This record gives sequence, structure tokens and C-alpha cells, in this order.
Amino acid sequence: MKRTAAGVEVADVLDQLSSTELFIGGTWRPATDGTSFETVDPATGEPLTDVAEAGEADVDDAVAAARAAFPAWRDTDPDERGRIVHRIGALVREHADALAALESLDQGKPISQAKSDMEGAARYFEYYAGAADKTEGRTVPVGAGQVDYTVREPYGVSAQVTPWNFPGNLFARGIAPALVAGNAVVLKPAEQTPLSSLRLAELCEAAGVPDGVVNVVPGFGDPAGRALTEHEGIDQITFTGSVPTGQAIMRAAADTVTPVTLELGGKNPAIVFPDADLDAAAEWIATAIFTNAGQICSAADRAVVHESVHDELLERVVEIAESHELGAGHEDPDVGPVVSEEQLEKITRYIELGTEEGATLATGGGTPDGDGYFVEPTVFTDVDHEMRIAQEEIFGPVLTVLSFEDEAEALEIANGTDYGLVAGVFTRDVTRAHTFARRLEAGNVYVNKWFGDTNQTPFGGYKYSGIGREKGFEALDSYLQTKNVAIDLGGEGDLPGA
Ligand code: NAI
Ligand code: MG
Repeated sequence: MKRTAAGVEVADVLDQLSSTELFIGGTWRPATDGTSFETVDPATGEPLTDVAEAGEADVDDAVAAARAAFPAWRDTDPDERGRIVHRIGALVREHADALAALESLDQGKPISQAKSDMEGAARYFEYYAGAADKTEGRTVPVGAGQVDYTVREPYGVSAQVTPWNFPGNLFARGIAPALVAGNAVVLKPAEQTPLSSLRLAELCEAAGVPDGVVNVVPGFGDPAGRALTEHEGIDQITFTGSVPTGQAIMRAAADTVTPVTLELGGKNPAIVFPDADLDAAAEWIATAIFTNAGQICSAADRAVVHESVHDELLERVVEIAESHELGAGHEDPDVGPVVSEEQLEKITRYIELGTEEGATLATGGGTPDGDGYFVEPTVFTDVDHEMRIAQEEIFGPVLTVLSFEDEAEALEIANGTDYGLVAGVFTRDVTRAHTFARRLEAGNVYVNKWFGDTNQTPFGGYKYSGIGREKGFEALDSYLQTKNVAIDLGGEGDLPGA
């Protein structure tokens, strides 16, 4: 497996950032205690730049800034909020190339994938902008003596904690609906990838978002993430990341009775029947496990293949895996590095474990010599459903291939993990496709494709994969609470309140 050397002009890419400090109340400032941390280029392992590290006092300040900014933002005419959010989308689109270069450098992903993330980010702002003046309530028929209606009101301050796999795109996924609904936001990006969020905060401000409505506090899970999600001054939490961290956040939220939207991991099955277009299925599965070096919650982690076409499907996927070249993100390789040394070690441990558990490496499994955090596209076969590599989220370019005899077994394997984020079925049989769509325990089902969702389709998990929905109109429900207003008209037919 060949790997090309990095050679991007780091300074040119970083030049777009006016600061790498904390963005609080519309101004850049260092951490109260002066602490900073380094973010690293995963293609080389070299530090890129220092970033201010938020501590508890900084989180307090950011939450206070958001609280102070909230009432005026809530009361801004919704059409004006919509125009501002639409302008953010236009600015993200205008700067998509530069943002993509920043994301690719900080996170490692191939530049064309980063570009697509940024176009998707622009699209979130554009999509939700139009909803700002359409968050309508209802009138409820309660009889002649009363008028009753509902109003959908913002919660207040939304605390958002994002992961490192799609930092810029997820900034937009959470912030666009939160703003449109009238909330202020404090966002803590992952410590591995803080840069795109800082730049995006700047673009929010340039678009006319008032000071304090969007705040960004780079830092670690502890103290910054913990302090933010435990804070008394927040009213809603949006988190994407691992199950244990999601659970910790949910426990903390219990103390302050704060609603959470959790988008956690997956161990997603791609079920392949003999009547499927096998070439297309192999392409989809390879794309769905090797894009972003497999660091996608909705990756196709498990190919669950009918025994009669197992060898054929395996051969095609292996061929694609072996054709992929590794390289630094800016070279736009097929597969970039994984995000960090820690993640590289985690993936390597799972590859060793797979062999220990008795699975067979059909291809890959190695980490090329040299700098950077690279893992070869890897395919395991002879995988038993009970093995840990078939049950646990690896979050790397590692596909496990399992086989099944009949529909019942396919379903049992597909649903037989703690997760339930996405699932796919490849078949030309329309009855089977619909039956599986109904029986698969997952928030999203793909038929004869993968990553079928767009900004306007709801996305989220069953079981341990999460609570609530991102994207689509459904996401607005995370940022709006319903108030019912009951008015007595007096006179005949009056209904006393229940
Ligand atoms: P993580 O879930 O710990 O980190 C995600 C975010 O949560 C980061 O911003 C982190 O700083 C923050 N965080 C950590 N501890 C926190 C706490 N106690 N309170 C508040 N915020 C906290 O995930 P990590 O350690 O980066 O990755 C470990 C594994 O998690 C990955 O290998 C992968 O399996 C999974 N993961 C899943 C993602 C998804 O999209 N569902 C994204 C990232 C990781
Ligand atoms: Mg980095």
C-alpha cells in the first residue's frame, strides 16, 4: 500500500483564521488561565497550531454571554433570523474551498470529501433558514367557551458538543436549526479538530448573528465538555459521539432536567441477497466503509451476505479495497489518515483482536511505515456474529463480512447488536425490500444504496444509537418547546380547565 507525502502550505490554509482563541460574546479571547493545546495534522503527526483551551470559568462566561444574547435573538422577527441564517449559508458556500482545506488539514479527510461536507454545511443553513417563519403552532378545538392555541418557543441556550469525524458539517447540522428556532448556542468542538468551528463562528458573525448568540469554546471533554453539559445555565443539549460519553451527558442532564439529543454510534449491517446487483452492492459497501477512513457513525460496518454470493461479493469488495491509495487529505487520496494516534491504536487493537477471535484477514490490516496515522483498507471474512469485531464500533476502515442462510438469520444478525443507527438491504425483490425496511431496528434504512439521506431527511438512532433526530423538520423539535395557551371567553359553554 503506497502512501504519498504531505506537502501542503500549512500557513496558507491557516491564514483564513483570524484567531484560534475562544469565541465568546462576539470577541476572541484567551482562556482565563492562559491554557492552550495543539491540534495536529493526522497525515504527519505534526502540530498545526495552538488553540485556546476553555476551562470551567470560560464555559461560565460563554453560557452567560449566550444567556444575555438569547432574549433579543428570540424576539428578532423570524424572517430576519431566517435572512441572517441564509447569509451564513451563502458565506459557507462562498468559502467552501478554503474551509475544506482547513478541515482536511485538521481532520485528515480527502479534500473532495471535506468539500462535500462544507457544501452540506451550507445547505443546512439554507434549508433551515426557510423554516424560521414557519414554526407554527396549532389551534385546539376545546369548545365554545375557550380559545386554545399552542406556540413553539425556543428553549434558550443550546449546548452542543461535536465529535471529530465531521466537525464543520456537524457545527452546521446543530447550529442552523437551533438559531432558526431562536436559541443561542455554546458549542464545544472536539479537541482533535477545533479549527473549522472557529472559522464557521466567524462566518456566523459576518452574516449578522448578534454577539453572544453563537459561542465556541474549544477544549477537552473534561473540563470543557463536562462543564458545559452540566451547566445550570443551559436549556438543551445536542451531542454526537460515543455511547459512554452520551451516557455521561445524559446522567449530567438528569440533574438539571435538560433535554438531550444524542446521536451515538452504529454497527450498521448491509444485507446482500443473491438477487442484488452485486457490483453495485460491492461499490456501495466499499464507499460506505472506506469514506472518511471508516470514521462515520453510519458506515457500513458489517456486510451480511447470503452464503450463495458471499465469495463473489467478498472478492469484489477486496478488489476495491486493494485499489484504494492512502494519502494526505490535500492530495485527495481514496483514503486519508485516521484522526489521531489514539484512534489509530484503537483500530489496530481491533484488527489484532479480529485475528485472535479467529476471523480471516481477506485484505489490509497493516499500517504503512512513515509518519501519520494511516490504516490500510481492511476486510475481515469468516466473521462470527458473536465476535467483538462484529459487535463493537471500530470506527476505522475495517469491514467485517458475515454470511447467512435465510431471511430469518439475516434479520437476526442485522438486529443483533446494541446499536440501531442505519441498516441497508440489497435486493431486487420489492416485497423483501419493504419487509426488511419494516423489520430492521434502525433509524434509517437504505435499499440498494447507502448514505441515502440528505439534509432534509431525519437522521438518528434506535436502541443505543441515540435519542432524538437530527436533520429534516424533525430536528427543529429538539430546539422548540410547546406552550399551550388556554383562554376563557366566559359565557355559555364555558369549559373549566381540567
Ligand atoms: P467522545 O464521545 O468521547 O468525544 C466526542 C465529543 O465529546 C468530543 O468533543 C469530546 O471532547 C466530548 N466529550 C468527551 N467526554 C465528555 C464529557 N464527559 N462531557 C462532555 N463532553 C465530552 O469520543 P472519542 O473519545 O473522541 O472517540 C471514541 C470513539 O467514539 C470512537 O472510536 C468512535 O467509536 C466513537 N465516536 C462516534 C462518533 C459518532 O459520530 N457517532 C463520533 C466520534 C467518536
Ligand atoms: Mg487535528
